[in-house]
Amino acid sequence: MTSRTNVPFTRRDFVAASAAGLAVSTFAGAVPAFAQSGPRRVIIDTDPGVDDAFALLLAMRSPELKIEGITPVAGNVPLELTLPNALRMVEIANRPDIPVAVGAHAPLLRRLVTATYAHGENGLGGAVFPEPKLKPIADPASVFIRQIVRKYPGEVTLITLGPLTNVATALMSDTGLASMIKGVTMMGGSLSGGNVTPAAEFNVYVDPEAARIVFQSGIPVTMVGLDVTRKTALTDAHVKRLEDAGTQVSLAAAKIARNDIDLNRREGNSSGPNMHDSLALASFLDPTLLTWRDYYVDVETEGELTAGETLGYRPSESGLHGSAATLAGTKTSAVLRDKFVPNAKVAVDVNSPRFFELLIGRLASKA
Ligand code: BDR
Ligand code: CA
Repeated sequence: MTSRTNVPFTRRDFVAASAAGLAVSTFAGAVPAFAQSGPRRVIIDTDPGVDDAFALLLAMRSPELKIEGITPVAGNVPLELTLPNALRMVEIANRPDIPVAVGAHAPLLRRLVTATYAHGENGLGGAVFPEPKLKPIADPASVFIRQIVRKYPGEVTLITLGPLTNVATALMSDTGLASMIKGVTMMGGSLSGGNVTPAAEFNVYVDPEAARIVFQSGIPVTMVGLDVTRKTALTDAHVKRLEDAGTQVSLAAAKIARNDIDLNRREGNSSGPNMHDSLALASFLDPTLLTWRDYYVDVETEGELTAGETLGYRPSESGLHGSAATLAGTKTSAVLRDKFVPNAKVAVDVNSPRFFELLIGRLASKA
């Protein structure tokens, strides 16, 4: 165990820590991003989406971030809706300076599966907002990601809140790109069961091949999965605080939340929605909200029942094997690359009250 005085971890730190066998909670004692000098460059890749919308509003209310751009992708709803939803959030936050670049219509190799049962037919819980006046930039998302990363090598973190199609497309188009990306902070995956199938979390389930490319890219990944995001149910009291604040941002967030809470109840859920993506965003602002462990994470892409499952291997579990060979062949499943060197910091616990204080406090603030 160690403590850090600086966050987020850099590629060099990550490799050094991994090589030294530092396995747990390397964010413990970290200085929150609030205390760091100068805003940090991020691109937010997203499929809004109720919790995406909250995450975007939180990001645009966070002076620690230099948001280089937003790249909507198909996921919770089709791109035809995630794109205008992202533009709407930019307008509501009055941040027309932030470019929005059009992402992928469909996963790399699979048919799109959406989550309208959780986000409503329009992706915002059914909350209706005017058509956005802002337009996306001409370059597509994968090109935009490349351009920004190459412009600021080693400085840009990708915060991914949806299927990883855009990021994987950018990585595949430019083999040198991964080494220039500072990190990926991802809402995705789970080491404790899925929310679409018993095995798979939605973002990884939708495009498992893309997720695998990201996990295997060598980019330090910070994984905020269902293990922690399931502990972040939005309540009526949170929404009331947003309504009472009465700002453009807080009222828009409250409207989305009210609609989605109602939708959740109609769907038979007694609590929620969960603020999955907002927690991932918040983890970048303040990693001390969560407890972290090093894992080697890989994605199941071929399982008949388990495509999109994320498997986490602990560095200490060096006795683990690949799947047994069949009678017809000698092939076993992949044994972990690089002898169990971690490729991800996985969030394993969260201080939910502190997270909501950050989220609701910022969305409700007048400044
Ligand atoms: C993830 O899937 C989506 O429905 C949410 O927006 C979040 O990104 C949770 O599994
Ligand atoms: Ca999302």
